[in-house]
Parts: sequence; structure tokens; C-alpha cells
Amino acid sequence: MHDLVIREVTLYDGTGAAPRVADVALEGERVAAVGPVPAGGRETVDGRGLALAPGFIDVHTHDDFAAVIYPGMAFKLEGGVTTCVVGNCGFGAAPHAAAAVMAKTLHPNLDLPAWQGTAGYMRRLEAQPPGVNIGVLVGHGSARLAAMRMENRAPSGAEMAAMKSTLAEGLEAGALGFSTGLVYDPGRFAATEEIVELAALMRGTGALYATHMRDESTGLLDSVREAIEIGQRAGVPVQISHHKASGRAAWGRVGDSLRLIEEAQQRGESVHADQYPYTAGSTILSAVYRDGRLRGAIGDLEPEDVVIASTASHPGWEGCSLARLAADMGCSAEQAAERVLAADAGVTVVLHAMSEADVRTVLRHPSTMIGSDGIPTLEGKPHPRLYGSFARVLGRYARDEGLLTMAEAVYRMTGFPAAKFGLRDRGVVRAGAAADLVLFEPAGILDLGTFEDPKRAPAGIRAVFVNGKRAVAAGKATGARTGKVLRRSRG
Ligand code: ZN
Ligand code: CU
Repeated sequence: MHDLVIREVTLYDGTGAAPRVADVALEGERVAAVGPVPAGGRETVDGRGLALAPGFIDVHTHDDFAAVIYPGMAFKLEGGVTTCVVGNCGFGAAPHAAAAVMAKTLHPNLDLPAWQGTAGYMRRLEAQPPGVNIGVLVGHGSARLAAMRMENRAPSGAEMAAMKSTLAEGLEAGALGFSTGLVYDPGRFAATEEIVELAALMRGTGALYATHMRDESTGLLDSVREAIEIGQRAGVPVQISHHKASGRAAWGRVGDSLRLIEEAQQRGESVHADQYPYTAGSTILSAVYRDGRLRGAIGDLEPEDVVIASTASHPGWEGCSLARLAADMGCSAEQAAERVLAADAGVTVVLHAMSEADVRTVLRHPSTMIGSDGIPTLEGKPHPRLYGSFARVLGRYARDEGLLTMAEAVYRMTGFPAAKFGLRDRGVVRAGAAADLVLFEPAGILDLGTFEDPKRAPAGIRAVFVNGKRAVAAGKATGARTGKVLRRSRG
């Protein structure tokens, strides 16, 4: 007998196929049957008027430590996310000493438990499971920090060997790939050559190279070329993180960056991207304010467009722009940035730096999957993408604006990322697949968070199942923690 049958639900199966009405039966951790399912089952859910999709796969997260310290992961689950890929932008969970530095930035009050390598991190998650599944990328910045601290030069032979052993250990443990953050310290000190040599370790494994590129502003096209070149020379798939054109001077260039991706695909290379559906980004202020200027790889910024997101030292600053702080402090915006950084080197900011037209151009393009890039600073005012990215794509851009079909939008957050990241039996609803599912109201799903009030679960998400267990019921996280570590498969 089936544990649960969802009856007569409108099924978006994650392949991009048009929706169809079906019954979906769950047994244990898996989908047992899809189609007309005979009467019976321990429990029945009336699916009429509701939509069912595979649980959303968030390919771009920074939940490495959140999964350990907030294992309930309600902030993801209530947005329909059942799998988080961690280790993005070069910041990974190993080596532990380097990871601890990043962890302090995001979670200043955290006492990080110890683990050994990526394998140890995975074992820790398996011993104390989070509410969502976790896939792991090895972070180049963390590997480099551990091998050679903040040195701005090429690595020595021994330092390169140390970085390679960090990556090899992670790949052996089942990591899905390797990420860089080429705007951050110390990732930005790495030349193309260094990354090619490291990424080449993944050749033939199916693991991918994910990159927060060197310049997402007027240098966008050169950055995309570098990412593609690294993939070619290393012989590995490429994932461009949070594809965008940042800063007014770069607006419109996504047309050309998308063309570069298309050309690579036409040559038979695996090059794709992810995107969060907002015109504002978010990062650490120290990556934006450099050498006395508000600029850098994200483009020149106006002080009113840089808003403090989270700082444990002065929560009163959260939600204030640098222009506003400068006025309050009676100083220049640059001086205000310096004061904020002096008080809290790890302060995060929201940056209003993109154009809506570009966001739409990228979202419409078939190379784009969805990744929130959510920064889980739950104490402050995190960018609302942490909660609402998936519901926003489905409700606003697919349903309300018709930018892409609902079936296509679901595919971009399920079957597509599962295939790219090598997650077998995830991202699709079919007999035998893992029972990661989202039950939602197709007419009601919508993100509710704003920059002023970001910490709001989206509307319209009724239930979420992770490995067959109800993780969200009536829109609220149940506290179930049935997430697994998802290791790379070549399938
Ligand atoms: Zn990034
Ligand atoms: Cu990121």
C-alpha cells in the first residue's frame, strides 16, 4: 500500500513537458507511481486545483554553515526548495580553518563545530541532517586561503599541491564541482592558469566548474570568455554564477554574454548559467568598497544604491543606504563605508545595480537556471532572494508576465539543474525518483518579501516533501529534517 497519494493534481514533472492531471503515489523515500493510481493508500491528499512539481533545486546558495546551525532550514523549505548546492563563489566548507573565516562573516555569533575536509563536512550533515538535501562544491577561495593565506601572487609548487589535494579530497567525497569567486580575496589573486590547472583535476569526472566571474560590469564579456576558456582547457562543464550586467555602464551587455554562451554550446561545450530574479545584488561591502572607491567588479555605484543588509555591530544601520549614513554621520559616502567596515569587516550590503530589462533577457534565455544566491544572515535584513527567488520566477515572471511558461520555469529549477549538476533521480517526478516535491497553488504562488521586509515566506506553497517526508505542511515548516547529502553521479 502507498504511504500517500496526491490525487488529480496538475503535474509539472520537471522535464519541461506541458502539465497534465495525474495521481502521484509516494512510498518511503520515493515516488512509487505516477498516473491513475488505484484507490487505497494510507493517506490521500486532494490535489484538485493545485500544482505539483519536483522540489526546487537551488544551485547557488551560501548555506554551507546555515545547514549546520539552522538545520531546520525553514527559510528555504517554505520557499519550495528541497536541495541546496553550497560552496559557491569560492567559499566552501573545507579546509575547515579557511571555512571558519567565512562562517564568521555570515554568522558572527557562531561557534562552528569541527570537521575534516569535505568528507568530514558531509559526514557531519549526515549525522545531524538538515531539512533540505545538500550538494557540495569545493571552494577555490577557501582552498587558496588555507594553502597561501592572502598572498597576491602565483602559488608555489607546494601551495598548488595543497590546493589540488583539497579539491581531490572533495571530489573523492562526492563533491559536485569546484567554484571560484574571482572578485573576492583571495580568489581574485588567481590567474586563469591557476584555475585551469585545478579544474583539470575534474576532467572526466562529470564535476563542473562554477564561477563568480572577475568582472560582471563593463568587463562582463572578457569574464565570460575566461570562464569558457577555463572549461575548454580543463575539459569540464561550466556554470556561470548569477549571470548579470552590473552597474549602469554595463547595462545591455547580457545580449552579448548570452551570445558567447550560445556559441560555446554550438561547439558542443557544456556552458550554462544561473540567475536570481531581482535587479539588486548582495555581497560583502569589502568586495564593493576598494581603494577608496565604491566600484570594482560590480560597476560604479551610487551611494544611495548601496544599502546595509546585515551587521551584528550596528543593527540600526541595516536598511540604510550609504548616502543616508553619510548624511547622518556628516561625512562623505566613502568615509561612511570606511566607518562601517571598521565596525564590522564582514558587513553585507544590497546593491541596486541591474536593469529590469537585462534580468528579463537573461531569464528568458534557455541557458539560464535559477539559483537564489541567498545569503543566510537571518538576524539582519538579508536580500529577499533568500526566501522568494523561486516563487518570484513562477508567480511574477511565468504566470503574471508570461515571460516563460510555467512548465519551462519549473524545468529551470528542477530537471535542468539536476542534469547539469549530476543529481540522479532528482528534479523529475516519475516512478522511482526521490520524493522531493512541492505542492503549490498555481494562481497564488508569489514572493512576498521586500527589501524593507525581506524575511517572508512566499504565498501559495502548500506542502513540501523531502525524501518522502513532509517538510512543509499548510505553508509552515514541520521541523522534519530528512535532507541527504547528494553526491555526484555521472548518470
Ligand atoms: Zn557570487
Ligand atoms: Cu554567491
